[in-house]
Amino acid sequence: MRIDIITVLPDLIKSPFEGSIMQRAINKGLVEVHFHNLRDYTTNKYRTVDDYQFGGGAGMVMMIEPIDKCITALQSERKYDEVIYMTPDGERLNQGIANELSLKENLIILCGHYKGVDQRVRDLFITREISIGDYVLSGGELGAAVLCDAVIRLIPGVLNDETSALTDTFQDNLLAPPVYTRPAEYKGHKVPEILLSGNFPKIEKWREQKALERTQELRPDLLSDD
Ligand code: ADE
Repeated sequence: MRIDIITVLPDLIKSPFEGSIMQRAINKGLVEVHFHNLRDYTTNKYRTVDDYQFGGGAGMVMMIEPIDKCITALQSERKYDEVIYMTPDGERLNQGIANELSLKENLIILCGHYKGVDQRVRDLFITREISIGDYVLSGGELGAAVLCDAVIRLIPGVLNDETSALTDTFQDNLLAPPVYTRPAEYKGHKVPEILLSGNFPKIEKWREQKALERTQELRPDLLSDD
């Protein structure tokens, strides 16, 4: 997979890719991530990427020209499956979207700022708009990093134990069951006996039951049909 991230703050977004799973995926050659500074695509000497909005109103708007130049340059090199715009009014990111995007070959992610982008960018270039939650961030960079993390860890070969992504919370609309490690007893608090039994079919059943109970208690909305 190749991901091209268009941003006015490349330094802000780079660090999550420099450690842990995302770095490992890059080192293994399973994903390439390229950062494009939108200011490199400006033609004015101040390298401005935003301007006042027509009709008046508070807040600046990202201009279409540098974004057009950047996206068009990328699209002249290869075909992209999606051109994603990170915005609070996009569809809310969930595990299903992450699964779907993890199967794609080439993605562009545009990080918004200020009041957002000129609507014509959305009309002409964007194929998908994604929000990471119902709150407003200062820019799309942190959202893009969250999206990339959720997607990259699902690419086959990225996690050592492939089943560990399949058993994540949300993969089957259930929260994950509780997990324990050594010691088997800590300050009188014991690990459930069943997990020490070695009876794997029974353990599996127990985990399914706990996942269901946890979901019923904490996120009953995941179990409803709508
Ligand atoms: N940019 C600003 N807020 C955002 C959000 N909640 N999700 C994605 N991008 C954003």
